[in-house]
Amino acid sequence: MLTFRTITSLEPCLRGYRASGLRVGFVPTMGFLHEGHRALIAESIARCDITVVSIFVNPTQFGPNEDLDRYPRALEQDHELCRKAGVSLIFVPDASEIYPPGFQTYVDPGPVAEPLCGAFRPGHFRGVATVVTKLLNIVQPDFAFFGQKDFQQCAVIRQLVRDLNLPVDIVTVPTVREPDGLALSSRNAYLSPADRERARCLSRGLLAAQVAYREGARDSQRLIEVARDHMTEVDQLQYLDLRDAKTLGAIQGLVEQPAALCVAAYVGSTRLIDNVLLTPPPTALADDELEIVSRAIGRQATTQGQGSQTS
Ligand code: PAJ
Repeated sequence: MLTFRTITSLEPCLRGYRASGLRVGFVPTMGFLHEGHRALIAESIARCDITVVSIFVNPTQFGPNEDLDRYPRALEQDHELCRKAGVSLIFVPDASEIYPPGFQTYVDPGPVAEPLCGAFRPGHFRGVATVVTKLLNIVQPDFAFFGQKDFQQCAVIRQLVRDLNLPVDIVTVPTVREPDGLALSSRNAYLSPADRERARCLSRGLLAAQVAYREGARDSQRLIEVARDHMTEVDQLQYLDLRDAKTLGAIQGLVEQPAALCVAAYVGSTRLIDNVLLTPPPTALADDELEIVSRAIGRQATTQGQGSQTS
């Protein structure tokens, strides 16, 4: 596995891969890698000849009072995870490599970046859109892989790739969860054991709403209430919102199109986000998903239809 810290050292290598006709997959990350990141890497390795991972804690997507300074870092472990997973190349730039003195051009996403996290983290998606556009231009991959865990981020990136005609296919990989349902996140490292226990209620609520949907519930308020009933243990529920899965437009009344139920909440001082898809026709859960759901909601989940649910 090769490691590059600068764009000028990386570029000849990438040019070589492309000249040889190799298919390049790209997984952008902020490091402190876990099984969620590993699932993205595995998907890239399955689809591509070469997998490039970037590790860069992007300052422009953090607000002034957010956790940029204390964001967890573990470069050696990340290196090891990537090597074992079969990554070809990692790109670990300094902030000055991505934002050199005089940098002044940003990518400003539209309405898709306004609700949900966009409303609570002003400028966040501008920072994400800017760094992802830059990284896509630097790596020029055939495919780039993003996690459904950051649902709005996926929507923003799909929109920017369409709007700016970026020549890359975006692949969304389903959320990887702990056995009790909690979505994996680098920020879970902030949780005390007691907070970790309370954090379970977020996925429990979302998965309960997904089960209700699979069992026929379609009223948006009712689905939100099913989820909210479980989410009493958090310190602050920032939003719990049902949105059109593509446009992120608000849904009122009956859920008649693919939708996403999205949540952001503080548990202690840790801000967590999660979501589930509510997509017709109801599909069966894969066995491992069924186990997680049943454990999270405390009863056997019933399912209809065939095939596993992916985005
Ligand atoms: P980071 O939080 O490190 O996440 C990198 C990628 O891993 C994102 O696409 C994210 O959605 C995915 N991911 C995180 N947790 C996951 C889980 N439990 N299951 C599946 N995928 C998961 O997201 C970012 O970094 C940054 O915003 C970035 C895109 C790198 C731009 O700076």
